[in-house]
Amino acid sequence: MPRLIDHDATGPRYLDESDIDDEKGDIAICMCGLSESYPFCDGSHNRTADESDDHLYRYHNTEKSRQIVDRIVYADGTEERFEAEY
Ligand code: FES
Repeated sequence: MPRLIDHDATGPRYLDESDIDDEKGDIAICMCGLSESYPFCDGSHNRTADESDDHLYRYHNTEKSRQIVDRIVYADGTEERFEAEY
């Protein structure tokens, strides 16, 4: 269940005590890459619940949609195929 997600950060985000959730007393870091509150988990990982191990997914956060990727063509003309077994 790999996925392609756009990120535009170019450096680290340092956490401090103000990042601790007042209600839960912890800090949940987003590991799926879909959070709109990145680097914090906002529950957007629920969108990945039905992903299949056989597909590569491209997520579009602005439209809240996703597509299954079957190949990537690079600027140098090479391509990478992701063939799922249906
Ligand atoms: S792990 Fe990414 S939003 Fe929760």
